Amino acid sequence: MKERSATIRADDSPVTSRSPMSPRGRALRIAVLGAGTVGGEVVRALVERGSELVAADGAPLELAGIAVRDIARARAAGLPAELLTDAPAHLVAADDTDVVVELMGGDEPAHTLIAAALAAGKAVVSANKHVIAHHGPELEAIARRTGAALRFEAAVGGGVPVLGPLATELAANRVTAVRGIVNGTTNYILSAMSDEGREYADVLAAAQAAGYAEADPRGDVEGHDAVNKLVILARLAFGVWLDPATVTTIAIDGPGAARPGITGIGAADIASAAALGRTIKLVADARRDDEGSILASVLPTAVPTESALGRTSGVLNRIEIDGEPVGTVAFSGPGAGGPATSSAVLADLIAIARGLGSTWAGLPPAGAA
Ligand SMILES: NC(=O)c1ccc[n+]([C@@H]2O[C@H](COP(=O)([O-])OP(=O)(O)OC[C@H]3O[C@@H](n4cnc5c(N)ncnc54)[C@H](OP(=O)(O)O)[C@@H]3O)[C@@H](O)[C@H]2O)c1
Repeated sequence: MKERSATIRADDSPVTSRSPMSPRGRALRIAVLGAGTVGGEVVRALVERGSELVAADGAPLELAGIAVRDIARARAAGLPAELLTDAPAHLVAADDTDVVVELMGGDEPAHTLIAAALAAGKAVVSANKHVIAHHGPELEAIARRTGAALRFEAAVGGGVPVLGPLATELAANRVTAVRGIVNGTTNYILSAMSDEGREYADVLAAAQAAGYAEADPRGDVEGHDAVNKLVILARLAFGVWLDPATVTTIAIDGPGAARPGITGIGAADIASAAALGRTIKLVADARRDDEGSILASVLPTAVPTESALGRTSGVLNRIEIDGEPVGTVAFSGPGAGGPATSSAVLADLIAIARGLGSTWAGLPPAGAA
């Protein structure tokens, strides 16, 4: 085991000492914070097929601990009892934790735990779009100062790889626009309204009963979740952290105007669009204008029904990127769900074990827009 300081700070003050982590050699010890829909799948994969999750040029992965709120419930759910704790901060601070996988969700304590891990030079993988979008500049500054990797592929598009390709395979491009359907709940509601001719409130209630929408659905239906994902996409596409509060979510005119997200869409809007061969989708869109400013919005948009966005229904996500010289490329697939999202989290773990650095590795430090 390598020597390292136990000094854990949630701010960005200097860490006293810590040996850099080798991407090869001994196993990386992983602390998973949160074992719900996504965390449960990640834990299961590490327990059941951890030996398969080793790149030829990377370190093995070893599950070191799992933080949950209710240990008895987690044990009853079959999680390894000897690894469970209800003290996530202790797991983050533990000398032999190399990588923190944050899958608790929400703002706090997730934000402080991620910041503390990075400040201590520990790598972090997170699927938490809220924390990455709202605290991105601070977390990037800490990660760059300590050299710790911060990866968050699962925060956008669930199982759909899009941030990695933006930062790596598309690195030779000048990206001019990013747009897509990035919120499965609203897409499910709009698809059901369209297919069944039902009103928004009816479909929302059915989606809540079926578990497709939260009891408090505002984060999804008012567009905040899609805004967070757009902010993260824009960081990779345009090299800036947008302030989520500056992303437009209320249209001046058109379907659902004057109400946030899809909350103003009615059956009449869906029918009017259909009569014109169009389908209403909640489209997240960020583009560079002629002066270099970034224009960003998350708005209900009538797209041609036969277009690729128009045909993206239910909980599928689709993200399109315009770049020069590539033209337009698109990524689509399952935007949510434990197994699909665990694919992106586990890929980030493998990337860390290979020493590939942060999701933005290779790109210049972000500016603020
Ligand atoms: N679900 C998806 O399809 C999906 C897709 C992409 C990204 N994400 C993101 O992935 C993250 C996790 O989502 P999820 O759907 O897996 O959430 P979830 O099912 O609600 O699971 C969250 C887990 O974290 C635990 N937790 C919460 N606060 C805690 C605390 N203070 N201390 C210890 N444990 C705590 C919860 O414990 P209790 O059960 O005891 O409360 C639960 O086990 C979120 O950031 C989400 O936005 C999810």
